[in-house]
Amino acid sequence: MPKIHSEYVCQQCGYKSSSYLGKCPECGSWNSLVETEVSAESERQRISGIQIEGNLVKLSEVKKEHSLRMSTGFSEFDRVLGGGIVPGSLVLISGDPGIGKSTLLLQSAMRIADKSTDHSLQTTAKKKKAVDSRQKAVDNSVLYVTGEESAQQVKIRADRVGKIPPNLYILPQTETEAIVSACEKLSPAILIVDSIQTLTSEKLTGSAGSIGQIRESAQVLQRLAKGTRTSVFVVGHVTKEGNIAGPKVLEHIVDAVLNLEGDEAYGFRILRSVKNRFGSTFEVGVFEMADSGMIEITNPSQVFLSQRIEKRAGSVVCASIAGGRPILSEVQALATSTIFGVPARRVTGLDFSRMQIVIAALAKNAGLSFANLDIYLNVAGGLRITEPAADLAAALAVVSAVLDKPVREGICVFGEVGLLGELRTVAASKAREKEAKRLGFNDFVTPERFKTLEAAISYAIHGD
Ligand code: TYD
Ligand code: MG
Repeated sequence: MPKIHSEYVCQQCGYKSSSYLGKCPECGSWNSLVETEVSAESERQRISGIQIEGNLVKLSEVKKEHSLRMSTGFSEFDRVLGGGIVPGSLVLISGDPGIGKSTLLLQSAMRIADKSTDHSLQTTAKKKKAVDSRQKAVDNSVLYVTGEESAQQVKIRADRVGKIPPNLYILPQTETEAIVSACEKLSPAILIVDSIQTLTSEKLTGSAGSIGQIRESAQVLQRLAKGTRTSVFVVGHVTKEGNIAGPKVLEHIVDAVLNLEGDEAYGFRILRSVKNRFGSTFEVGVFEMADSGMIEITNPSQVFLSQRIEKRAGSVVCASIAGGRPILSEVQALATSTIFGVPARRVTGLDFSRMQIVIAALAKNAGLSFANLDIYLNVAGGLRITEPAADLAAALAVVSAVLDKPVREGICVFGEVGLLGELRTVAASKAREKEAKRLGFNDFVTPERFKTLEAAISYAIHGD
C-alpha cells in the first residue's frame, strides 16, 4: 500500500497548504481550501515525470516541424482556431451548459472522421495508393470520450446531425488513465473529452470537478497531446459567475480557449477565441443551432439584418467588430411613457453602463427629456456588442424611438459617444465601411463626418 498523505488545496487558485487555512494566502478567497489526499507514490511519479520531460536543447537546434493543420469540417471553427487544428494541441471549449459544445464537437468529430471514408471510397489502385500515403500522414480517426452521456445518448445525437462515419470511436469513461491507455491503443488524430469536469485521476482522491482533479487531468492530457501529436479538445463548463468552472489553472495549461456564447432564446451561437497560442485572439465564428445541429454562418451581417423592417423608428444599422471581422447588426430602441414610478432602462446585447452614459449625454446635449420615458435597448438576433463603437448607433436609435421618426434609409452608424456629446473615432473604420457597402449601406454617420451628437442626429433623423 502506498503511503497516503493529505494536503489542503484552494479550489479557486490551486494553492496548496499542509494545514487548513480559513483564507487562501494566494488569492484571498475564504473557506476555499479543501482537504485532498495524495499518495506519496503518485507524488514521486509526478516529480520524476517532470524530470524525464526536461530535455536540455539549444533553441537554435530545435527542428521546425512542418505539421499540417487539419480542418474541423467547419470553416468558421477553423477560423477561430487560427486556420485549423494544430497537431498535438490542447484546446478548451468553454461555455454555459446547453449552449451546444457537445453538439459542435460531435459534428466536427463526424466530419473529420468522415474524410477518411470518402478517401477509401476511391476505387482505382493509383488513387488508392495516393490516398493511403496521405492517410499515413494525416490519420482521420477520432476518439470521443463522454463522461456525461452514455454511448446510446451520443448515438441518438449523432444520428440526428448526420451520418456516422466508421472512423469515429466512442468511449464512455471518466478515468483519465483509462482514457490515456485507450488513446495509446487507438492513436487517434483527434481526441475529444466531454467534459474535463467529469474526469478523475487515480492518483488523487478528490472528487471529479475539484481543482486538483481538473488540473491533474489537464496536465495528463497536455502531456498526451505533446507526446503523441494527437490533438485534444476538452469541454469545460462555465459557472454562474461566468468563469470556467474550476479554475484559471486550466486556462494556463491549455494551448487555446474558445468560448461558445449565445442567448438561449436565439439560435445564434458565437465561438470566440479567448486565448490562442497558434492564432489571433478575439477571432469569432458564427453558427446557428438548428434541428439538425450547428450550421455555420459565413455571412453573419446578412443574417443579423435579415429580419429588419426598413423605415421603422428606433432601428439603426450598426457596424461593429467581432474578432477580426466587421459584423453589421440592428440596434433597436423602444421608448414608452412611464406609467408608474421610476423610468425603466433595460438593455440587452449592449453594455448597460455605457448606455446609461449615452442616454445621459443625449438628455444633456440633444435637448430631449427622458424623465417620463421607459427606454429599452436591444441588439436584434442575440448578438452582444460591448465595444464603444455601438454608442452612436444606440444614441440614434433612442432619439429615433423618442421622436417616433425613422433614421434615413441606407445609413450605417458607428462611433463612440463622449460625456460631453462629442463623437470619438473607433478602430477599423475602413473595414466597417467596406462590410456596410457590401450590404448596400453607402451613407455613413461616423465621428469622421460629424463632430457632435447633435450634428449626427440632425443629419440621420432630421435630414439636414
Ligand atoms: P449540447 O451540445 O448538449 O450543449 P452543451 O454540451 O454545451 O451542454 O446542446 C444542447 C442543446 O442543443 C439542447 O437544448 C438541444 C439543442 N439541440 C438542437 O437544437 N439541435 C440539435 O440538433 C441538437 C443535437 C441539440
Ligand atoms: Mg454537453
